[in-house]
Amino acid sequence: MRAWLINDFSGLGALHLAEVPDPVPGPGEVLLRVHFAALNPADRYLAEKLYPLRPPLPHILGRDGLGTVVKLGSNVDGIKLGDVRMILRGETGGSRAGTFAEYVIVAVNDLAAPPEGWTEEQASGAVLVYLTAHQALTMWGNLPPGSVVLVTGASGGVGIASVQLALAMGHRVISLSRRPEKRQALEQMGCLLALDPANPAWRTQVKTQARLRVNLAIDNVGGTLLPEVIDTLADNGVVSLVGRLAGTVPDFNTATLFFRRLRLGGVAVGATTRDESIKAWEQVLALLQQAGFKPIVDSVFPFDRLPQAFEHLAQGPMGKVLLAATPPRG
Ligand SMILES: NC(=O)c1ccc[n+]([C@@H]2O[C@H](COP(=O)([O-])OP(=O)(O)OC[C@H]3O[C@@H](n4cnc5c(N)ncnc54)[C@H](OP(=O)(O)O)[C@@H]3O)[C@@H](O)[C@H]2O)c1
Repeated sequence: MRAWLINDFSGLGALHLAEVPDPVPGPGEVLLRVHFAALNPADRYLAEKLYPLRPPLPHILGRDGLGTVVKLGSNVDGIKLGDVRMILRGETGGSRAGTFAEYVIVAVNDLAAPPEGWTEEQASGAVLVYLTAHQALTMWGNLPPGSVVLVTGASGGVGIASVQLALAMGHRVISLSRRPEKRQALEQMGCLLALDPANPAWRTQVKTQARLRVNLAIDNVGGTLLPEVIDTLADNGVVSLVGRLAGTVPDFNTATLFFRRLRLGGVAVGATTRDESIKAWEQVLALLQQAGFKPIVDSVFPFDRLPQAFEHLAQGPMGKVLLAATPPRG
């Protein structure tokens, strides 16, 4: 099969397309012919040795994807050849080979059927970002509907998932995006405010003009933006720390947390059991259906253009960036 390999951890520049033997599914596993794979910043972090996993080399990146079951290992129940499945959880693309290939092996227990009414493209990149957003929204206990939720990096995969789920839960959502056309789209989606984090007035727009204080912030960006986000929190406000696209936080003053009894907590989408992932996914689907939201696909790149797809992701997408591996014919 054709697969995108990295032979070292020097970064995405190490990606190269190669011909490798077709993988063979073991007990409890199936072979999927990948239709679409989704890109995530975690792929880059893993390639740059910034992720706490060191898979054997050469390694195939790619955490998310959807495809047709074309081979069954032994002891596999509840699935048949020709079924279309997406990856719900597991170590795909992390400690084992991922989806930037024509075929991938996945444990049958780590698969789920794509939701009805979604395109294959929508389903192929949804799971990781919606489960992350769900964890970020629920990890502090029940937030009363009508709470103010702030989402940074709101146009990205986790960002849009967070905005949609927060709106579906009945919260008032403030989103941050650096691009005007994306802020417009976020307002059309239902955000109360969509603001530019590069504009020093954004906090005044929240606190003084709109007279709002944030109850829960979902931070995908980090860097110098995190202290600004903390400044907008209400008493007992919380921050779910998801990503750090803008790097580490310089000059962090812990005293900013004391007087309003603020709390920060890390999100780890991979640190859940299979049962927890299934339950969370069911809740995600129910919320999306109730609110009439579906995943947003930014773009689909041909299989031989993965490096260009990663360059596009780094510019800041509006939704998910996908790779078409072997799209279904007809
Ligand atoms: N903790 C976990 O379990 C977990 C799970 C999934 C993802 N993550 C992490 O969460 C972060 C977001 O993931 P994602 O899939 O949503 O990423 P994404 O699809 O690439 O989107 C991120 C968004 O953030 C903004 N952004 C990008 N680079 C930025 C920068 N340098 N400074 C400020 N804003 C920037 C962009 O929005 P604008 O251009 O509109 O401003 C972009 O659309 C990543 O760091 C990822 O590794 C963590």
